[in-house]
Amino acid sequence: MTVTKYKLAPLRDTADILASNVYQKLFPPHLELVPQLNEVYELELAFYESNVLSGEEIFRNGAYFARVGDMLTRHFLMCSGEPVRLPQHSSSRLRSFFQTNQFKTGYATHGLFPYRGKFHPQMIKALMNIMGLKPGDTVLDPMMGSGTVLIEACLMGINSIGIEASPFCHFMTQAKLDALTLPLRPIRAALDTWPSVFEHFRGLSGQEKHSHQMRDDRESGNLFSAIKPEFVSGSMAHKKGKLPEGCGLKEVYNFLQLAYLDSAGYSERSSRKSSHEQFRAILERYLFVAEKIQRVLAGIEAELGKAKPLEGDARRLPLEDSSVDGIIFSPPYSFAIDYLENDSFHLRFLGADLDRLRESMIGLRGITPQQRFEMYKADMDAVLCECARVLRAGRTCTIIVGTNNNQLSRILGVSPEKVKGIDEILVELGSSHRLELVRKMSRQITGMANTMRNEFIIMLQKG
Ligand SMILES: C[S@@+](CC[C@H](N)C(=O)[O-])C[C@H]1O[C@@H](n2cnc3c(N)ncnc32)[C@H](O)[C@@H]1O
Repeated sequence: MTVTKYKLAPLRDTADILASNVYQKLFPPHLELVPQLNEVYELELAFYESNVLSGEEIFRNGAYFARVGDMLTRHFLMCSGEPVRLPQHSSSRLRSFFQTNQFKTGYATHGLFPYRGKFHPQMIKALMNIMGLKPGDTVLDPMMGSGTVLIEACLMGINSIGIEASPFCHFMTQAKLDALTLPLRPIRAALDTWPSVFEHFRGLSGQEKHSHQMRDDRESGNLFSAIKPEFVSGSMAHKKGKLPEGCGLKEVYNFLQLAYLDSAGYSERSSRKSSHEQFRAILERYLFVAEKIQRVLAGIEAELGKAKPLEGDARRLPLEDSSVDGIIFSPPYSFAIDYLENDSFHLRFLGADLDRLRESMIGLRGITPQQRFEMYKADMDAVLCECARVLRAGRTCTIIVGTNNNQLSRILGVSPEKVKGIDEILVELGSSHRLELVRKMSRQITGMANTMRNEFIIMLQKG
């Protein structure tokens, strides 16, 4: 190979080169980047944001800027301030995670439940900007998981619809959205009397009849509904045990229940602390998080977007043709995470039928790994077909997907070099449904190296 055809710029003095600031070449002088921006894809997203948004829009909804002129941006205000208080016994790893991710994930109500495989909300914010989504538009996440897209859209004044097969994810998303606005006085009272609140929920977890509260409502697109209103009505809640005044309100009750499920899940994973010991610390942290974001939202007088999380199946979206302005989702990391197994305690608590649910969970269908892989591809084809149907022409569908070619090569019995990554498969499937690739970025995965190797941001446009 010859490189002589590439013309080089004339050699310059080292001091001359060092004097030219690369950031000044990329961004206008009135924009200041957020701290902790340390990956190439982040710089790329910041660059696109600065090109597609006005100064006013960066101030209101930009993800990667701390200042526009002398004004601190809303993103900076949401993320700064007192950091989340962690319980005394938290590991130094956890502490450092919260510190280094303050602007990426550690803000608003995103951190309320440790859900594996969720998006970095800051990245989602930037993607929505780059996709041209504006306040009043509607974005869809057909596999909403813990609701990152919906929460972020809500904060930006963008309306959102989320679809999710797991009733627990639906419950969690709704609770995290409600936490942006719910009344906090009953939560403070619940924290003061936390032992009886804990007993209230623990009493429920052993009760089979809890499953009676679930509803099978296919007509409305909901396979289950997490909690029936009468279950959380004041009278019922008080009868079961000593909840303070105001805790019968559905939003408040669900918030407390999410904290309970978080503590119960934690003690299942770790033998160091019982859920009883965990509950108080977790509820205290939840209250702190809700107080902080509500204070910021009141201060900036934010107009929140409307969010509609639904239970349903991404392969059969309950939406009209050409009805959404953008789609963002992350398919299940097919062979890496068994979402049902992970959430089995919480799903059972909510009365879900796990066997029935498994039949609709993409990535979990099939018996042998090869069968699972074939079904995964067929299911993703159906999802992309639906995405193409409901997206408006000219708009963007962004998929964030992790892939591990070594793992796939073992499953398929071919060498890793010959494996077609899930990213490539999705691009091909998209193209067969008129969703054409406009940009693909990659980002490094940290913390899941044994299951995931690379994560791709794939942007497809409906032709
Ligand atoms: C990678 S997770 C999404 C995480 C999400 N982006 C977040 O930030 O929390 C994929 C989700 O797809 C859901 N899922 C699996 N099969 C589905 C189906 N048929 N319809 C809708 N959601 C499904 C899983 O329950 C899981 O929550």
